[in-house]
Amino acid sequence: MSDTDNTEDRPDMGDRHEPRFDEPTGQYTTGHSWDGIEELNTPMPRWWLGIFYASIVIALIYALLMPSIPLINSHYKGLLGHSDRKAVALDMVNMRTGRAQFSDKLTGVDLENIMGDPELFRFAMAAGKSAFGDNCATCHGAGGQGFKGYPNLNDDIWIWGGTFEEIRHTLEVGVRASHDDTQFNLMQAYGRDGLLTRDEIKDLTEYLLAFTDRSENPDAVARGKSLFAENCVSCHGAEATGDQSQGAPNLTDLDWLYGGERADILETLNNGRQGVMPNWNERLSPDTITALAVYVHALGGGEPSNPVE
Ligand code: HEC
Ligand code: HEC
Repeated sequence: MSDTDNTEDRPDMGDRHEPRFDEPTGQYTTGHSWDGIEELNTPMPRWWLGIFYASIVIALIYALLMPSIPLINSHYKGLLGHSDRKAVALDMVNMRTGRAQFSDKLTGVDLENIMGDPELFRFAMAAGKSAFGDNCATCHGAGGQGFKGYPNLNDDIWIWGGTFEEIRHTLEVGVRASHDDTQFNLMQAYGRDGLLTRDEIKDLTEYLLAFTDRSENPDAVARGKSLFAENCVSCHGAEATGDQSQGAPNLTDLDWLYGGERADILETLNNGRQGVMPNWNERLSPDTITALAVYVHALGGGEPSNPVE
């Protein structure tokens, strides 16, 4: 039991006596003991104390340099006079002037000049990608992969041409769109409008399927071949490989805008096709159109401006 007066009221304080040196641990006790269990007076580790005092010093210095202490109408501004608001405003100004510089540079330039300036190219790609998400992804897919009737822009198969200039032109005037100089060509409804008979359309379909070894009717293929020569070569070419200057697709490969199964081709020949690509010259600025052309050209299938070298 304790020899001090008030310990009976506070039994949880344990017994008190003079701190003593504890041999096995080499430290002093605090002078408390609970049922004979004593508490050692272990000092804080030095490293902990060091960090503790250092953070107090750093906090004081920081409070002195930076805006820190609230005053009645305002706040202590700090010796450095730093302001997050000012910093953000400055960043915005810098960004806008930087953007305007790039945008001016993009207007009317050719791809070579953009490629020759890595910073400008990076800016065009970023601006093009974001404009693509906003304006084009609904029809062409988020990655430009396309859907039935909406061409894939990732591959190297182009209806109207895949050079940078041709892509930029397609964006500006559109296809079957409202621009005065829009790119236009008619794939007629040969069946519906009675231009060809049902049998002729079947023969033409067999002829087209034969390019990819999918027809088992050589007689129909032969008849289709001469029908094609009479009716289709002016746009699709003598070899049916298409003509980009007229927007007439290649019909000999496995890449089809409207589907390449027998039923799809019959549908195309019966009812015609009139894909509409809007003209963007009224909705987007020239530099955005250029950035989009850079982006689409770089998606994977862009052709060099000058393929004959
Ligand atoms: C309303 C749907 C629609 C939107 C939106 C649209 N396109 Fe198109 N785009 C088409 C269609 C349909 C065609 C195919 C036209 C044809 O049949 O010749 C096409 C064709 C193209 C072509 C030509 C492809 C080739 O093979 O020659 C390019 C390039 C193109 N689009 C890029 C874009 C870009 C970039 C945007 C966004 C600014 C965009 N398109 C927005 C529907 C759309
Ligand atoms: C006056 C030009 C013109 C003539 C003639 C023409 N076509 Fe087309 N054809 C086109 C155009 C342009 C397209 C693309 C339509 C589009 O993009 O919406 C097309 C598309 C097609 C397609 C769809 C291709 C695909 O990828 O899905 C087929 C199939 C086709 N034509 C077959 C024929 C056949 C067979 C004939 C002859 C009977 C013919 N065309 C005559 C211009 C023509």
